[in-house]
Amino acid sequence: MKILVVGGGGREHTLVWKLKKSPLVKEIYCAPGNGGISEIAEIVNISSEDLKGILNFCQEKKIDLVVVGPELPLSLGITDLLEENNIKVFGPNKKASLLEASKVFAKEFMKKYEIPTADFETFDKESIKNAKDYALSLLEKDGFCVIKADGLCFGKGSFVINEKEEAFRIIEDLMVRETLGKAGEKIVIEKCLFGYEASLISITDGEKFLSFLPSQDHKRLLDNDEGPNTGGMGAYSPLPFLTEDLLKKAKEKIFERLLFGLKEEKIEYCGVIYAGVMINKEEIFVLEFNVRFGDPETQVILPLLKSDLLENILLAKDKKLKEGLEFFDKSCLCVVLASKGYPYQYEKGKKIELPREIDEEKNLLFHSGTEKKNNEFYTKGGRVLSVCGIGKDLKEAKDNAYSLIENIYFEGMHFRKDIGKKGIEYYEKKNKTSSTL
Ligand code: AMP
Ligand code: GLY
Repeated sequence: MKILVVGGGGREHTLVWKLKKSPLVKEIYCAPGNGGISEIAEIVNISSEDLKGILNFCQEKKIDLVVVGPELPLSLGITDLLEENNIKVFGPNKKASLLEASKVFAKEFMKKYEIPTADFETFDKESIKNAKDYALSLLEKDGFCVIKADGLCFGKGSFVINEKEEAFRIIEDLMVRETLGKAGEKIVIEKCLFGYEASLISITDGEKFLSFLPSQDHKRLLDNDEGPNTGGMGAYSPLPFLTEDLLKKAKEKIFERLLFGLKEEKIEYCGVIYAGVMINKEEIFVLEFNVRFGDPETQVILPLLKSDLLENILLAKDKKLKEGLEFFDKSCLCVVLASKGYPYQYEKGKKIELPREIDEEKNLLFHSGTEKKNNEFYTKGGRVLSVCGIGKDLKEAKDNAYSLIENIYFEGMHFRKDIGKKGIEYYEKKNKTSSTL
């Protein structure tokens, strides 16, 4: 088969790497790709938002399957356009993508189909005073509230607030000063939840869903979950604190209700669905839906997937998904190396020193934002590299990831030193408790 992967980050590097393990792949292209991807796929110089450009390329090359990584082309309708032209695409259509592209749509959908989520209200420019009153009522009751811009903001549109003045400022920033443009024309204000966050990612054909191993992202820039939110500074999988009981709840109350709701609304869905959840003791709540693989979650869940990804994508396209995704009994942990300045304006064009060889039993190195010039790699994105460690347990995976980082350097390189720390502490506490029983 001839495959085109759309996107150019660490997620897409991982997708290309995993898809290429399938014997069905004959040729693989990536648009626009990056320096690392250029080593394993043919790079196509078309932006992932240039839907017409992608369509023309697919027609010219007679592409058999397009796998879409990022949310923006999905929300712009890449699937609708390619399918109208009889090109097979893995990724939901424009209507279904509203689950990610509109928080108002997603929250109202969750309410209608009784998918557990934080209590909320939605507001527009006509109801700014009501928005302030609702934020104030949550702050008085709980000490916190969460304000979210409706549209796509690439991780920058949600604010956890504990002060009245800040809440009012953000409401006005979004709806009066329009700091996030059209994305903030409507907002959701919701109750603040506490607990562990997890990313639950499944593949679905609209009838059935199969879950990958659960993972956890680290969204804040700095250690101990401090600093601004980012696209994700690291991840690990599987998670120690997700019990069988919680996973059963997630299956029944989140994914089954979601598929039921989509059918009721007559929305076709074939692709990946990602529930970002908060787990509090034995309860599980959806914070957000994404309509694609996570980044950097993909960098840890696909290395642990034993099954053939392409085979499952093709089964999903034929509405024939069947039970039985298989996984390696290992852990994987990814540390993102970021450019100086990220997540704000960041430096580019720094030469990257990389290890000569990588032992794939212990490490994988995916490129997030690099370019290759004269056989050397240079930084090009805010997130530059996704350094993965694989191990028999989380501790070994972490040690392997951080050991590889010792052999990587670029000027201004920043990374978190505590990826996986909470998970390892959880295991250690559990082991201590069980050994004293
Ligand atoms: P979202 O844009 O909805 O994915 O939210 C981004 C981040 O904000 C999440 O990963 C959480 O860390 C935090 N967040 C979102 N909603 C809530 C909530 N209701 N309670 C607590 N934290 C939240
Ligand atoms: N890791 C968060 C996301 O992909 O949205």
